[in-house]
Amino acid sequence: MKRGDILPPDRYREDFAPLRVDNPVCYLDNACTTMRPDSVVNAVSSYYNETPACGGRSPHRWGYAVTLMEAQARKSVANFLSAEKDEVIFTLNSTTGINQVAQGIQWQPGDIVLSSDKEHNSNLVPWLQLQGKGLIEHRQVDSNSDNTFDLEAFEDACSQAAGNLRLVAIPYTSNLDGVTNPVKEITKIAHDFGAEILLDSAQAAPHIKLDVKDIDCDYMTFSIHKMLGPSGVGVLYGKEESLGNLESIRTGGKTVSKMTTDSYDFVSGPSRFEGGSSNYAGIAGAKAAIEYLSRIDKSWLAEHEVRLNKIITDGVKDLDQIKILGPEDPSLRGGVTAMSVDGIDVHDLAIILDEAGSIMVRSGFHCVNSWFDAKKISGGSLRTSAYLYNNEDEAHQFVEVFGEALDALTNS
Ligand SMILES: Cc1ncc(COP(=O)(O)O)c(C=O)c1O
Repeated sequence: MKRGDILPPDRYREDFAPLRVDNPVCYLDNACTTMRPDSVVNAVSSYYNETPACGGRSPHRWGYAVTLMEAQARKSVANFLSAEKDEVIFTLNSTTGINQVAQGIQWQPGDIVLSSDKEHNSNLVPWLQLQGKGLIEHRQVDSNSDNTFDLEAFEDACSQAAGNLRLVAIPYTSNLDGVTNPVKEITKIAHDFGAEILLDSAQAAPHIKLDVKDIDCDYMTFSIHKMLGPSGVGVLYGKEESLGNLESIRTGGKTVSKMTTDSYDFVSGPSRFEGGSSNYAGIAGAKAAIEYLSRIDKSWLAEHEVRLNKIITDGVKDLDQIKILGPEDPSLRGGVTAMSVDGIDVHDLAIILDEAGSIMVRSGFHCVNSWFDAKKISGGSLRTSAYLYNNEDEAHQFVEVFGEALDALTNS
């Protein structure tokens, strides 16, 4: 069979070394981190093998190659987001991007930051820290009973904070249950109340066609390791005007244009936020990941993930101990099926799934501890998250082994 005859997802599976072995694992923990295609691994090793130098400094040919690669990577990310290249800052991950915004805004007395009730700790701890220092008041808006975003409650919360609402910081897509929020409407409402908006897009960037201009958000953050790229690279997008008002929390080398013993002038543009040497190998890999992901048809991806989600949802939803988190309809949860499991330790289940069926899933609180605490679900949940290389056989395999594991633990 010619390569062109193989349809996705099997065509994609060929690109991933962990899937090219006999009896590959069934990896359904993609919301945590994804596998990396050969092109990404090759880009990282090419940096070390061919041009292992610093960018933006040394004039020799390796230094020049790295400078050029970094500029091209920034441009690729900007195109991926429909942004300008000077609006793209390389960070370590989503978490550092959010911290940059939290610590970089010049807060005024009375400022309020509004989030949802389903925040990843990375989009909650920074705000609670600021609140603890008396710099802001943090408020949250509750979701609808099926965990979808409650636009009416959000508008009410904005109206109650009117005059002091400085920032809305919410997830584009939730890592708790896979629900994607109506970010365009949310942004419009936030702006109507004079607030800026930060979209934590860690779970959206790997799946959805991003368009910051169309959404009109002020900030967006995401992590490259969740979208086929290396660990240790993230992106903070900021509108030019917003970045212009943001104080950098990573100053030093690369950030200044003029320097004396007692004064400095910052450069303009992204470098002001990228002090010190960069993760050049990671950025080379990020460029390759963005290029790979840009070639994936996002409507195919969305349909594919929901198709697998439906197999898993249909296979588990009627089991006695199971309660699916979020809306019942899998098409509202992308590739994510998260479930609480009554009377059984989800970590035990996850270990059995791995040991008995080579199925890898996440168990626990998925860093959304505050939601589980508020809902008094002490055991957390078991979460499957599918991606482009997962196939229907794997979804069926999960259902079968999950049922057996549940039986075994129930009767033990
Ligand atoms: C919604 C969301 N926000 C933020 C993060 C933090 O990402 P990172 O650990 O890569 O900074 C995650 C990671 O799971 C996430 O799912």
